[in-house]
Amino acid sequence: MGEFTRKSIKELFSQAPGSKVVVKGWVRTKRGNKNVSFIALNDGSTIKNMQIVCDGAKFSEDSLKDVTTGACLCVTGELVESMGKGQSVEVQASEIEIYGTADPNSYPLQKKGHSMEFLREIAHLRMRSNTFGCVFRIRNAMAFAIHKYFNEHGFFYLHTPLITESDCEGAGEMFQVTTMDLKNIPLTEDGKEVDFSSDFFGKQTALTVSGQLEGELGATSLGKIYTFGPTFRAENSNTPRHLAEFWMIEPEMAFYDITDNMELAEDFIKYLVRYALENCKDDLQFLNDMFDKELISRMEGVVNTKFERVTYTQAIELLTQSGKKFEFPVHWGTDLQSEHERYLVEEYFKKPVILTDFPKDIKAFYMKQNDDGKTVRGMDVLFPKIGEIIGGSERESSLEKINKRIAELNMDTTNLWWYLDTRKYGTCPHSGFGLGFERLLLFVTGMQNIRDVIPFPRTPKNAEF
Ligand code: 4AD
Ligand code: MG
Repeated sequence: MGEFTRKSIKELFSQAPGSKVVVKGWVRTKRGNKNVSFIALNDGSTIKNMQIVCDGAKFSEDSLKDVTTGACLCVTGELVESMGKGQSVEVQASEIEIYGTADPNSYPLQKKGHSMEFLREIAHLRMRSNTFGCVFRIRNAMAFAIHKYFNEHGFFYLHTPLITESDCEGAGEMFQVTTMDLKNIPLTEDGKEVDFSSDFFGKQTALTVSGQLEGELGATSLGKIYTFGPTFRAENSNTPRHLAEFWMIEPEMAFYDITDNMELAEDFIKYLVRYALENCKDDLQFLNDMFDKELISRMEGVVNTKFERVTYTQAIELLTQSGKKFEFPVHWGTDLQSEHERYLVEEYFKKPVILTDFPKDIKAFYMKQNDDGKTVRGMDVLFPKIGEIIGGSERESSLEKINKRIAELNMDTTNLWWYLDTRKYGTCPHSGFGLGFERLLLFVTGMQNIRDVIPFPRTPKNAEF
């Protein structure tokens, strides 16, 4: 039977019993005796295993000795109604071909529950476990839902470059890109600086921290765009919420003010959570039962609540009045730490919070300046258990004001002439935000560590696989 007629295990579970089938997959477990053996087979299409029944008259124990956890099989047989509990159908095997064995003495993914830390060390195999099968099927569903949402709402998918010379966030956390011989770096004539003119691009380049600046070029031409791609940050934060390589979704919209931007962010994120609830039921149920008994109810809660909107200044008041002892003391002007965000979301409001109007000194140069001269029209969406899941703003549309801010920050604008042209030629009010894809996945899987929602995490001192 050709591969295009083979049915996946997911498809077989919705098929009526009584037909001849071919199932291929990896052995999860085998049990039984000389009269009958039961193999639990999984092909990744669903959390559910297909039970393969091997009659002892046809399959001696010896013929099944290489059918061990991790081995890959091609099973021919008949799909029959299952007598056993826990599954509707099973396969009565007539023939088993072993594609590949897995030595039980060395195959690391045995049945016993492994720690997340151990599974991270075998990230090349962990997708074969129940938990990571769920996580990466959900990751796929969320990526699809993101494109679906924007497609349904008139946005264009724009591909922004990964190699760039501009530091969008101005935090100086970029990975350099070079083909120079690091043992023999050319210097300028005075010997004081690196001479990038001989480098591949003839200038200093790095991996992008955000596609926003090019996204703004798209929005001010196409109207509404979004990016969805990898971004890179060389920030030395070894936390459960930071990666050096993460995926970001960045919509950017002409004519949206900060209120429109907040409404879009709320609608978008609710759509995604609802999509997961409706389309990833089995996987969510497994994660809910295994790790986080409140996962599904927390997700339903978010879908059914209006997010709270609070200014930074109001948040600082709430935090100082809370009477709580925070590790990092709060006062107007400081960036909120995760303990502060979690107090607001989990203890005070008990729902997602959209914080706006931050002190200009803790935010990037492109945010629209308020008339008070102190704050900018930024917005952060804070989520239970996660903290910041979205960061965005209305953009400063006045050339004069943005130039003034750039001067205050002593930024080098030689790389930004093209960006400033949007303010020079037909400038318009516009807004956008960035959703951290893995932060979203933390929320919709209940995983505790961001390293466990991306197949191959990159973090300080770790780039294995
Ligand atoms: O708040 P950030 O830095 O905003 C920007 O990059 C803007 N240019 C976005 C925009 O307005 N178009 O990052 C946006 C989001 C954060 O809210 C967070 O969810 C995620 O990206 N994020 C990270 N996720 C994982 N690891 C990291 N190191 C992250 N840094 C930011
Ligand atoms: Mg941010």
